[in-house]
Amino acid sequence: MEKIILDCDPGIDDAMAIAYALHSPEVELTAITTCFGNAHTDVTTKNALDLLALFDASHVPVYEGLNQTIDGQLPREGAPWIHGHNGIGEVTIPTSQKKAENESAHDFLSRITKEHPGELTLVPVGSLSNVARAIKADPEFVKNVKEIVVMGGAVRHPGNITPLAEANIHADPKAANIVFQSGANIRLVGLDVTMKTLLPQDKCDEWRSRNQPSATSMADIVTFYINAYKENNPGIIGCSLHDPLAIGTVIDPSFVQTVPMKVTVGEAGESYGQTVGEEDEASSVHVCLHVDSERFVAHFLSRVV
Ligand code: BDR
Ligand code: CA
Repeated sequence: MEKIILDCDPGIDDAMAIAYALHSPEVELTAITTCFGNAHTDVTTKNALDLLALFDASHVPVYEGLNQTIDGQLPREGAPWIHGHNGIGEVTIPTSQKKAENESAHDFLSRITKEHPGELTLVPVGSLSNVARAIKADPEFVKNVKEIVVMGGAVRHPGNITPLAEANIHADPKAANIVFQSGANIRLVGLDVTMKTLLPQDKCDEWRSRNQPSATSMADIVTFYINAYKENNPGIIGCSLHDPLAIGTVIDPSFVQTVPMKVTVGEAGESYGQTVGEEDEASSVHVCLHVDSERFVAHFLSRVV
């Protein structure tokens, strides 16, 4: 069983990733750390706590992360046109009784990887600010973390927040460069593969018909995402399973095929947030370029709610 920490910005596909991880015996969700991206970090922290309660998993601790980039800039407003103003499609779910832990996300990441060297896989699916901060603050972090499975970037595929940039990398490009150039063992799950993994539209009706609170809430939340996809991506039917695919590659790495690449991120001008990948056998960054989408989507659907 792989022990994972999900660093996330829930976020609708983040919510699906949380459910997928919780319902998959191949992984143990040991903690959630929160970051900004789809909304500011106070909102994503609340969503993480509330979603865990909805999925009956409040035992999973939540550590709040940075609400600023690695160089101290305030984040953009979020992505209300895709995730709603509250990050979960304007849907209200019950408020959790639990609060976030007192330790910050980056201190937690540093401490827990020291306590369990080589055992923990970190799965960041939002801005990379917390991870970059842990790398900068702790010289042993890169050696102690087993693998970093990043949802982010687009090496061959166009961007989704600018013509060239993917949203998570664009949220903090300097942090992304720190992470990609750290020498850590990294798998990059970007738009090159996630845009090929589509959740069929009729699934929400099926979830709703179960008459079970978490399945109904997820159906409502995901319906917002599917409608937003329809408006913003003419021709796409359904919605992309970005963050769930990152979890999927931990459950079963054979869902994807990777190529080692040196990855650099643009920090200015038109290329701000763009991920450029150059094939390089010696690189520790493994970029996913192919996905068995049919097998992955079927697996995801058999687990998610
Ligand atoms: C990524 O950006 C966010 O909107 C999603 O949650 C996902 O992590 C996709 O570009
Ligand atoms: Ca996300």
